[in-house]
Amino acid sequence: MANRRIASRLVGTVSALAVALAAGAALAQQTTLRIFTGGQQRPDVMRQIVDVYQQRNPGVKVEIEVGGATSEQQQQYLNTVLSAKDTALDVVLIDVIRPAQWATQGWAEPLDGYLGAERDAVMARYLPAYREANVVDGKVMALPYFADAQFLYYRKDLLAKHGVEPPANWEALIEGARKVLAAEGNANLAGFQTAGAPIEGTVCTFLVPLWGAGGALVEGGRVNVATPAAQRALKLWSDMRAANVTPPNLAEIVTDRIRLNLQAGNLLYAMNWGYVWNRVENDADSQVKGRIGVVPLPGFVGGQPATCIGGWQLAVSAFSKSKEEAVKLVRFLSSPEVSKMQAIFASHLPVFPEVYDDAEVLKANPWFKDALPVVKTARSRPVSPRYPEVSDIIRTNVNAFLAGTKTAEQALGDMNGRLPRAMR
Ligand code: GLC
Repeated sequence: MANRRIASRLVGTVSALAVALAAGAALAQQTTLRIFTGGQQRPDVMRQIVDVYQQRNPGVKVEIEVGGATSEQQQQYLNTVLSAKDTALDVVLIDVIRPAQWATQGWAEPLDGYLGAERDAVMARYLPAYREANVVDGKVMALPYFADAQFLYYRKDLLAKHGVEPPANWEALIEGARKVLAAEGNANLAGFQTAGAPIEGTVCTFLVPLWGAGGALVEGGRVNVATPAAQRALKLWSDMRAANVTPPNLAEIVTDRIRLNLQAGNLLYAMNWGYVWNRVENDADSQVKGRIGVVPLPGFVGGQPATCIGGWQLAVSAFSKSKEEAVKLVRFLSSPEVSKMQAIFASHLPVFPEVYDDAEVLKANPWFKDALPVVKTARSRPVSPRYPEVSDIIRTNVNAFLAGTKTAEQALGDMNGRLPRAMR
């Protein structure tokens, strides 16, 4: 009897021990990954997505750190963290313009070794622009999270009310906006906004009409913006200002302010990125649900329209202490499954061509049916390890022009003096 009791007590102790050991092992296997994202890239949607990952991978916990609202603000913070070789971040969401700099600085862990034999097949599935942007000197520095380009958002209801068609060119946009503004007589309604503050988006405020006018930053093998096309690009914005189509404070306007103005019902036309759609259609405070249309950006009469390629990439920090696990998470976040979730919950444009045809994706974003050709023909900002400097030179000069503190000649002359060194 006593023996049996001891035996059963022993069994109990052994099984308790086994449970404790298993729990200990599970604890030991628990990996916490920290991912950095910008405030505008929908951290709330990322949370939902990583929750799915956590359910499927009980040994992994994912924390999200949210940085600044604009691309250059985020990179300024990351410069400090990564220069200190801080191990706190495992995965970092970086703008499409950054992989060259990240490669040169040694901040991103090259992913080729982790992808192994699958490398080429994995990369072949993405839209070409993202395959190219993320491979630097033959090495995969990051994997794409979502694609982006600038589009023209417009008030369907106001255009219909005043018999104005969505504009085929900038000239028609100015004319249509003047007509609607005059007829509405609403002091709160602005005609058109694009980024004008000294932020990353303002680089595209310059490049879009520059390309549209047939120009480029590099012409005949050298960097030169003292050109008629660059003059015409800046003139587009001064013409819009002179026509009272853009408000006097364009030089203060940041990307998300445009979205808020549109959402409040105070803007007729907005040049902005893909994320805006989901917010204007779904935010509780949106005054314009069902009243917004999205079309490709216009060009000049007789010219070709143009747009900037944007988008966000997932880099594994070179200083992460959990690189294997970080790569697994990145591969999940860069999958067609997640591309679809982002499209539905955030109108983030897919990096896989086939996701544009998905019925649920199209239901949430009817305008995606015409978006793929726009993303495919969107053009890149300069690729340079010194991109932050390139960006700074362009955006501060364009901003000074919009603010009226530099003439077009001065702004373009100052860009011309500095850009060649930064783009070498
Ligand atoms: C969007 C784009 C990004 C761009 C930024 C500028 O987030 O995806 O590439 O640099 O806007 O505001």
